Amino acid sequence: MEIFLDTANLEEISLYGAFIDGITTNPTIMSKYAHNEHYSLIRKICEMVRGPVSVEVNSEDFEGMTQEGKKFAAISNKICVKLPCTFDGFMASKELSSRGIPTNLTLCFSPTQALIAAKCGATYVSPFVGRLEDAGQDGITLLEEIAEIYQANEYDTKILAASIRNVNHVIKAATIGVGAITLSSSIMQQCLEHPLTQKGMEIFALSWENRK
Ligand code: G3P
Repeated sequence: MEIFLDTANLEEISLYGAFIDGITTNPTIMSKYAHNEHYSLIRKICEMVRGPVSVEVNSEDFEGMTQEGKKFAAISNKICVKLPCTFDGFMASKELSSRGIPTNLTLCFSPTQALIAAKCGATYVSPFVGRLEDAGQDGITLLEEIAEIYQANEYDTKILAASIRNVNHVIKAATIGVGAITLSSSIMQQCLEHPLTQKGMEIFALSWENRK
């Protein structure tokens, strides 16, 4: 399973760089760090990681999305153009993927959206587990249904579990066997630690200090 960090913060990317396969961003994340240097920030991120960097278009129409996607793709061959699961987003995925530009279909909330994403050549589809649960639905069931559809139809599109709110979501997604997951730095940190590890270290340190 690929693990991505959901951030545009260079310090976080550097801190967790050893554990991650790439980066995902969205306009909310970018708005916190890009200021007037959107393209140079994307370039820096691409230089820091070995794998894909998902960057989302801000346009809402096919023309605008494909133009933005091509401009992002010109920055680095690590760019994966993030497009919304809308009619225009699906069409833009078809266009960009036919030109060899990887796409990530985001804001996916249903198995049928994931099905269309696969038909439109998406490299990744990003179901939003946490936001679906905020709306009172089961985000993990969505991952399971998409996984079943992709397996039954032998689609190559990878499920990228997004909007992950807790460690249990990570465990469930990994158990289902999604292709990828994206984590905030806070969830990443929670994945690394356990209170009993810390407690165990304190006990060992005390034993060592008091050795005879
Ligand atoms: O980047 C997509 C997704 O991970 C956003 O998550 O927490 O804003 O619902 P969240």
